[in-house]
Amino acid sequence: MAQSTFLDFAREQLPPPPARLLEVGCGHGELTTALAVEGYDVLGIDPQAPQGDLFRRIRLEDIEPDEALFDAVLASHSLHHIRDLDQALDRIVSLLGPGGLLVLDEHGWDLADEATLDWLWNQQRALASAGHGELPASLDAFREEWEAEHLGLHRSETMRNEVDARFEERVFTRTPFLYRLLGGVATEVLEQALIDAEAIQALGFRYAGVARRPEE
Ligand SMILES: C[S@@+](CC[C@H](N)C(=O)[O-])C[C@H]1O[C@@H](n2cnc3c(N)ncnc32)[C@H](O)[C@@H]1O
Repeated sequence: MAQSTFLDFAREQLPPPPARLLEVGCGHGELTTALAVEGYDVLGIDPQAPQGDLFRRIRLEDIEPDEALFDAVLASHSLHHIRDLDQALDRIVSLLGPGGLLVLDEHGWDLADEATLDWLWNQQRALASAGHGELPASLDAFREEWEAEHLGLHRSETMRNEVDARFEERVFTRTPFLYRLLGGVATEVLEQALIDAEAIQALGFRYAGVARRPEE
């Protein structure tokens, strides 16, 4: 069965085109471009953004609210990179109009339990055996590397708490994430099946929520 993409999820949550959208951390710009094709008035920001009218090479922290607020802000796997999450979410709130929507595709690296890391380690060993990447060291060393790689990045609970302080949750759903790291050796469908069987944890989550009014 085909999995639902973040674009599918966003479409279900967003007001109809031509609403004004901001994508934070747009990367190569695929989502911003897809939303523009659907008729949205969308701007993608990222220090690494592509060239073009749909994009600006700027950090969220440096964008100034102008006279036209956004109807929705989207962020796919970018929020956890922003060091000052508190300030970033305040900035997002200030860029949204009343009742504005936040739509997130995120993951919590800290949600990986022993069984999940064991599975990921084995998938990476399979990839290395096929000539992609280096053979990971022992599972213990792999666990230490996982922690070290993610040390500066926000934990899922921190993200949830900071988001909940400013937005009223409309939808929250856990999703596969690790297939994104595995270059095709494990598909999203396989990861979902293992999550459904409670063999591994779902690290990804999708969220949609509405900005709280100041008096709430
Ligand atoms: C893991 S990538 C995700 C890219 C894309 N959204 C995706 O889902 O594939 C994180 C992106 O966030 C961007 N980013 C990091 N800090 C940012 C900030 N303060 N403001 C805007 N974008 C930022 C990075 O440049 C990077 O392109």
